[in-house]
Parts: sequence; structure tokens; C-alpha cells
Amino acid sequence: MKSYILLILFSVIVFNLPAQKFKNLAQTPPMGWNSWNKFGCDVSEELIMGIADAMESNGMKDAGYEYIVIDDCWQVDRNENGEVIVDKERFPHGMKFLADYIHSKGLKFGIYSCAGTKTCQGRPGGRGYEFQDARTYASWDVDYLKYDWCYSTTQNAKASYEIMRDALYKAGRPIVFSLCEWGQNKPWEWAEDVGHLWRTTGDIVDRWDAMMAIFDAQKELANYAAPGHWNDPDMLEVGNGGMTTEEYRTHFSLWCMLASPLMAGNDLQNMDKETLEILTNKEMIAINQDTLGKQAFCLRDNGDYEIWIKKLAGDEKAVCLLNRSDEEKTFEVNLPVLLKSNDYYWATDPYKMKDYKILDVWEKNNVNGDKDLITVTLPSHSVKVFRFIKNK
Ligand code: GLA
Repeated sequence: MKSYILLILFSVIVFNLPAQKFKNLAQTPPMGWNSWNKFGCDVSEELIMGIADAMESNGMKDAGYEYIVIDDCWQVDRNENGEVIVDKERFPHGMKFLADYIHSKGLKFGIYSCAGTKTCQGRPGGRGYEFQDARTYASWDVDYLKYDWCYSTTQNAKASYEIMRDALYKAGRPIVFSLCEWGQNKPWEWAEDVGHLWRTTGDIVDRWDAMMAIFDAQKELANYAAPGHWNDPDMLEVGNGGMTTEEYRTHFSLWCMLASPLMAGNDLQNMDKETLEILTNKEMIAINQDTLGKQAFCLRDNGDYEIWIKKLAGDEKAVCLLNRSDEEKTFEVNLPVLLKSNDYYWATDPYKMKDYKILDVWEKNNVNGDKDLITVTLPSHSVKVFRFIKNK
């Protein structure tokens, strides 16, 4: 009798354990590549394998890029058992084959679906098939799932994403869960325990003003980002042709400052030297991947001129000076003020100028910190990024 009661008690406890996402994933912002921005529905096995080859050999893997994510359009239907059917024309060997290929390169494999009944391109969505799909993804050795929000009609966002979180957890394979709900229901307020990243806005467009509008929408969200759960201002457009090299450098720098996921969205098989240099700037990526996991806050907004600060581990700091205007501008910058700036108070310790050297991240040289005031000239739509590095 006693053991019977114990068994009931045990079952009640086990089956009522709080549902959870996979912990310990995305401890720094995920880095990788996604097919959508450049290729839209034109995805195939050949393309994805080519991208994996390029990422492995062109320095991006060494720079930290890891996930290769196929966005919409890989799926065509469901069979009579409800199983999702892969487009056999475009992916003749199926998804497990592709996953194995990507894994053989030391990279990780991501896929896309949607919380609604259809994906945004009208392909089969996940609604009602969450547990079945999660098992399928696990059997394909998927490492990352981007989950969209089209055809969700009156669904409750939190509840919908929680179903998929639970399904992934039950399937047992650790999968980074990327919520793509466009910020409509303020996921930053509820998704910390649901996913590892959440889109904060609608889709990015490969234009300076569109990119900056998304950047501006992140301003109030800094406190919601931390290791394991990040604001996602959408995938990168660097290299896609709609902005100047200077503007792409700014785009990449801002995304790094925001501790944003860095999902390249260009054709890795055909890119120029400048694009690769931007995407693989090691110091800029180190700022993005800093283990403290802080998103930058805006210290000063003088209209066209802004100063953004990102606190880094070990009492270090990254500073981004941004010229949004259409003209070149010259500014006077007070280095100790930048070093000591804090989002909630003006600290005196532990920030002493003599303890730091200052790296200009894009120029790759050190700035002389002997004088408090320095003059900085910024071309239109450009940034200057400094890292205050503590002397060892
Ligand atoms: C939505 C998402 C995009 C992309 C497309 C695919 O618009 O926000 O990032 O995934 O769907 O159809």
C-alpha cells in the first residue's frame, strides 16, 4: 500500500515538473548563416552544401560561425501519417543526409517551421503537429529551429511557442529554439523560459533606413538580453548589395554591440573581400560574444550622433560612436567619461584610465589615452568602435 502511494506521489511530482527549454544553449549569441535574406525560396541541397563548404574554408567557421539554417520552402506537404514531406526535387537525399554533411564540417544544422497552420510561404506549418515534428527534427539531428508566426490567426503566442518548446524538450535532442514572432506580443517579457532568441521586429530590408529603424527598436530592450536568451533584430544583410561598405560595417558593428545573434544572410560562396572582412572582424565578434552577455545601452543621443556602450567581462567596455547623418562629422570625445559611463550610475572605481589601453576595433590600432579629449572624424553613416582593454 505504502509503495503504491509513493508511486502516485512520484508520478505527480515527475509529470508536474515545470516544462523547460534546453538550458546551457546559446550562452553567447548564436552565430551562423540563414538562407532567407539572399535566396528566399530558392533553397536546395546543393546550395546548402556549398554554403557549408564556404563557411568551413573561408575563415567564417574559425571566426565563430556555426549554424547553417534552411529557412522557408524546404517542405512541401504532409503524408497520410502527418509526417512532413521534404521537397525531393531540391533535397534529393533528405535532411538527415544534409545534417550529416554539415556535422562532418564541424558545423551545426538548423531548420525552419511555423507556429501557425502554414509557413509564411504557404508550406505546412507546425500547428497541431508539434510533437511529431519535434521527433522528426530530432531524428534528422537538427540543432536549431526557427519558428515563425504566419497563419497563427487567434492563437496565443506564449502558449503556442510553449507547445513547441515542450515538444522539443520531449524529443530529447538539444535544439536552439528561435522564436520569430516579430515582437508583436512583446516576447522579451515572456520568452526567457521559452526560447533562446526572439525576433523583436518585422523583417529586415537591405536598406540603410530599414536597418536603422530596426536598430532603433532595440533601444528599450537591453535589459531583457542575457546568456541563454537574446533579442533578435533579424538576420544580417551584410554583403547583399543594398548598402555601402561603410553602412554594412555600421550594421555589423551595431548588431555586435546589441549582443544580437549574428546570422549572415548573404551568399557565402560569392562575396567580396570587404564583406568577408566585415563578417570576420575578430575584435568586433569578441565584443558580440563577450561572456557577460550584456546588450549595449545608449549613453548619449544627440540626434545624428549617438554613443552606445556595451559592458564586457573583466570590467572592460566597448564604445560605439555613430554618425547617422548624411555628412561627415567631427566630434570631441572625452575618453574617461566613456570609460566610466554606466547605465545606472557614474562609477569612480574600478575604472581608472591608467589601467586601460584603448583599441580602435576597425582601424586595428591603439588610441593614445594620455589626453582626456580626442577628436574623432566620422564619415556619413559610419561608426567608430573602441574597446577599453584592461592592462594585465
Ligand atoms: C517571415 C520571417 C522571415 C522569413 C520568412 C519566410 O517573414 O520573418 O524571416 O523566415 O517569413 O517565409
